[in-house]
Amino acid sequence: MARAPVQDGRDPYRHLYLPFIRVEQFHGKARSILPRDVYGYFSSGATDEKSLKENQEAFGRLLLRWRCLRGVANVDLSTTVQGTSVSSPICVAPTAMQRTAHPDGEVAMGKSCAYSNTLMTLSTWATSSIEEVSDKAGGTSPRWFQLYVLKDRRITQRLVERAEKSGYKAIVLTIDLPRTGIRYADKRSGFKLPSHLVLANFLGLEEFATENDKRFATLSDFADSLFDISISWENLDWLKSITKLPIIAKGVMNAEDANEALRRGVSGIWVSNHGARQLDSTAATIEVLPEVVHAVNDRVEVYVDGGVRNGGDVLKALALGARAVFVGRPALWGLACNGEAGVSQVLELLNKELELSMALCGCPSVLDVPESIVVPAARYRSTL
Ligand code: FNR
Repeated sequence: MARAPVQDGRDPYRHLYLPFIRVEQFHGKARSILPRDVYGYFSSGATDEKSLKENQEAFGRLLLRWRCLRGVANVDLSTTVQGTSVSSPICVAPTAMQRTAHPDGEVAMGKSCAYSNTLMTLSTWATSSIEEVSDKAGGTSPRWFQLYVLKDRRITQRLVERAEKSGYKAIVLTIDLPRTGIRYADKRSGFKLPSHLVLANFLGLEEFATENDKRFATLSDFADSLFDISISWENLDWLKSITKLPIIAKGVMNAEDANEALRRGVSGIWVSNHGARQLDSTAATIEVLPEVVHAVNDRVEVYVDGGVRNGGDVLKALALGARAVFVGRPALWGLACNGEAGVSQVLELLNKELELSMALCGCPSVLDVPESIVVPAARYRSTL
């Protein structure tokens, strides 16, 4: 079953929808309305942005190979992540400082996700707090909290405890940011958090007061001054000792790290290159996915993000073994263009495209997408 609310006409956002038929249009509008430095922060990738392009282009090098007459009258997008029901395998990745995109920021993102029973991941680096998002967004859809391990372990521990107390269902430990990557757009613009916004998860923490005063420094300097760059796999044992929540390792890009994370007891592996914002010339995430899926061998769920821009991309990731697929920038573009309704419309477009792609490929359920529906384009290239 596809997301029900739109089909039965109860979608509260529908009258607010923009006359857009694809996600790229939201990107175009966001580019034209966001302040230049904010757009640069959202859109940029590391250095020459080769991996940024690759993340998307690699999907194009995979072709869908449909199967016919397989009874697709009812295409069911519903699934579970970490045992919790969601309406679709398309979920929202953590992105920092969403109030720079729209005044309602993470609360709008949360409301929209709650409405459609979509999993949302809140960033440590959010401009709305853990509690504000859970109180104001409401709903019963799952939320995960993304964690950066800070030099100050008391603050880190408190973030985890607050997420647990506020009903977040998992801790997503981002492991691909020992330091912030070089993004030329931010270097040019000197992007920093606007003075009317705060990193809300740190408000009121005495230990953080001095650090918060530094918010006008460039963002990467600020982040690097807070994050613990010495963390290693041993720190996962500490994290496990302070929370009962499942821990998901985000930023895994090879079989070795997947195996190490599993040895340390993580409950999920998230293939990601941080939206190609950290290190350039890394592989596209969709190309890394099979290696990781093979290494994990069904021991835990595997997720992927990076360059997902349409429902066909999602279907390819599912066929290659992802349990769920996360979108970062597409949700940000929706938020920037039209707040809650924009996020809802972006998710709706992606879900409708996924549902149609599944029907056309002969896949009635996201829980059973055969690997054989995806083939490398090179397979059909003539060798004559
Ligand atoms: C991110 N990402 C990210 N990841 C994370 O773990 N914590 C964070 O605070 C952020 N912040 C952030 C800000 C912005 C502006 C972007 C674009 C990305 C990475 C994010 O979770 C995800 O991995 C990528 O965005 C996925 O790629 P796409 O969907 O943007 O192509």
